[in-house]
Amino acid sequence: MKRIGMLTSGGDCQALNAAMRGVVKSIINSGQEVEIYGFLNGYRGLIYSDFKMLTGKDFSGILTVGGTILGSSRTPFKTIKDPDENGLDKVEAMKQNYYKLKLDVLVILGGNGTHKTANLLREEGLNVITLPKTIDNDLFGTDMTFGFQSAVDIATTAIDCIHTTAASHGRIFIVEVMGHKVGYLTLNAGMAGGADIILIPEIPYDIDKVIEAVKHRESNGSRFTILAVAEGAISKKDAKLSKKEYKEKMANYKYPSVSYEIADLIWKATGQEVRVTVPGHTQRGGSPCPYDRVFASRLGAEAGKLILEDEYGFMVGYRNREIVKVPLEDVAGKLKMLDPDSAIIKEAKMLGISFGD
Ligand code: F6P
Repeated sequence: MKRIGMLTSGGDCQALNAAMRGVVKSIINSGQEVEIYGFLNGYRGLIYSDFKMLTGKDFSGILTVGGTILGSSRTPFKTIKDPDENGLDKVEAMKQNYYKLKLDVLVILGGNGTHKTANLLREEGLNVITLPKTIDNDLFGTDMTFGFQSAVDIATTAIDCIHTTAASHGRIFIVEVMGHKVGYLTLNAGMAGGADIILIPEIPYDIDKVIEAVKHRESNGSRFTILAVAEGAISKKDAKLSKKEYKEKMANYKYPSVSYEIADLIWKATGQEVRVTVPGHTQRGGSPCPYDRVFASRLGAEAGKLILEDEYGFMVGYRNREIVKVPLEDVAGKLKMLDPDSAIIKEAKMLGISFGD
């Protein structure tokens, strides 16, 4: 008998259910008896012993369903060691609940913050297996995370839709894509949607260069310009500020987000109408795309295999087109960022895309 605890933590994404289904199916199909404890709303469920017992049947019919059947929440790592409002030691509580239920393993699905806590639980002696989820694709140790391709599809569709209306009206459009720290999603959706200018956190922009690119299109006879801008895009000027100075700037920031500031500056410099579209959380929603269904199912199946072999302390990741197990200590606390000198950025530039640098 295997007793498995499972939880999904952090911002949700597509294919969380597909991944959990993969884990459970692979274990059940091996003939191994299993008890599944589904902790609700991320680490919160493990801390406060809020769980439901699940059987194989609960994982039927969820391959294509977005969101997570377990619910999710953000439980910041930086305060995980602080007692809660009632003085409860959260780490100790998670350990106690794990031991009380006599779990063999915790299967944790999450992104960066989630992996820091997962690694802490491993250091505290719990058996942990993790699966890499996030639309940002910024998890260290894996070339791909599930949710990413689905989000690329949605953000690309947003840019595609903007394209036709931009062409009709001869306007400048900014589509703001999710990603505060990294630009994988913006870059991929931007390239797929034929954006003319792509601004990402890894390549701070010079607003004059952005305006120059807009004017250049205009002088070449283009009636419209599309910018794909990451939530975390940052100007060269702001990138030079100290943390304190940047905080001060943001405290008095008059725009809802960076895209509106860029729109304002382009309008002032060109006199042209600029519209901002923010697809926001639609990028994390809906049914996973076929790639993510297959990918998450494969990761889940391999996680099941590790559990059957009593191999713990790993994230099931993807490197060089192979599913691999990555030690959790090699993943936790590290961010995978786009290399400004990478081939894809160079190729995008060859295509005439401006990064405003
Ligand atoms: O980490 C995934 C992500 O969707 C980011 O791309 C985005 O910046 C953030 O979460 C939004 O977080 P929240 O759902 O808490 O607003």
